[in-house]
Amino acid sequence: MSSLDDLKTRAHELRERLEGQLASASDQTSLQALRDRFLGRKAGEVTALFKDLGKLAADDRKDAGEALNTLKAFCEGAIGEAEARLELGLRDSRLASERIDVSLPGRARTAGGKHPLTLVREEVEDVFIGLGFDIFDGPEVDDDFHCFEALNMPADHPARDMQDTFYLADEIVLRTHTSPVQVRTLQSYTPPVRVLAPGNVYRRDFFDATHAPAFAQLEGLAIDEGITFADLKATLAHFARAFYGQRTPTRLVPSYFPFTEPSGQMEVFFDVGDGRGARWIEIMGCGLVHPAVLEAAGLDSEKYSGWAFGMGPARIAMSRFSLTDIRLLYDSDVRFLEQFA
Ligand code: PHE
Repeated sequence: MSSLDDLKTRAHELRERLEGQLASASDQTSLQALRDRFLGRKAGEVTALFKDLGKLAADDRKDAGEALNTLKAFCEGAIGEAEARLELGLRDSRLASERIDVSLPGRARTAGGKHPLTLVREEVEDVFIGLGFDIFDGPEVDDDFHCFEALNMPADHPARDMQDTFYLADEIVLRTHTSPVQVRTLQSYTPPVRVLAPGNVYRRDFFDATHAPAFAQLEGLAIDEGITFADLKATLAHFARAFYGQRTPTRLVPSYFPFTEPSGQMEVFFDVGDGRGARWIEIMGCGLVHPAVLEAAGLDSEKYSGWAFGMGPARIAMSRFSLTDIRLLYDSDVRFLEQFA
């Protein structure tokens, strides 16, 4: 038969063992294990002591029961506190790791800006859209027919030398100018047509201060019945004054392109800001569309006529922004570009 003292000793032992094990229980799982081991309904050690109460002498049971109740309350309290402490500790470390230092200086956001070539293109587009032109697009990889043949440059034509060509295959080229879009427009739409075709073109040129192997061009085309050279001259002069200033003198000087007849180049008297003062600068090639081009696109050249122009936005940007090296426009150096933002 167990004695009261014996039971109290075991209760005391249990309590010390729990205290020792609590000290090293560092997570929820080990705390739960302790709870099971001491307080578990079936196999808990405290529970086992309660089962032994019946073996005591009747007089001792009250005392023993109190002692065990105290032990049980202690165990529950101690494990509960340990859980609460663990919980708090977790929260503190989470708070510490998620801490935001609101006094840190913010990250500066740099706003992007438009590329000078885009600025020029959009400004040119604005002028011509105001005159009723539509924007038209064509492929950069084009065929010999659209790039040369239909533009009155048959295979053996010496004018093909004016534009040194990248061939991708026998009859497939990287377009050397945006003029093939003239042909494509006329093949798709019946006049009257007024289109503007901006895009990139490619030529076997060295990359130097005034040449780039890939550069922007902007084509214009107006075809209808009864269009004359006077229309070309007035429209292009209107553009030049809208772009370079209303008082800017303009002139057309003769030139040559196989796909226009007569051909000219438009010049403006303008100070590009290079310290040499105002002088005549060429801003585009132009002319009345050659009847052979109209016919190649399937139009009746007796009925229709019109004019076309091609300009280089890079050249225009150079005059506009006083640049002496075209490479600045194609190098993507942010230090240069951010000045336009
Ligand atoms: N395609 C010509 C060039 O690249 C420019 C041009 C276009 C000339 C339209 C006249 C008419 O040089």
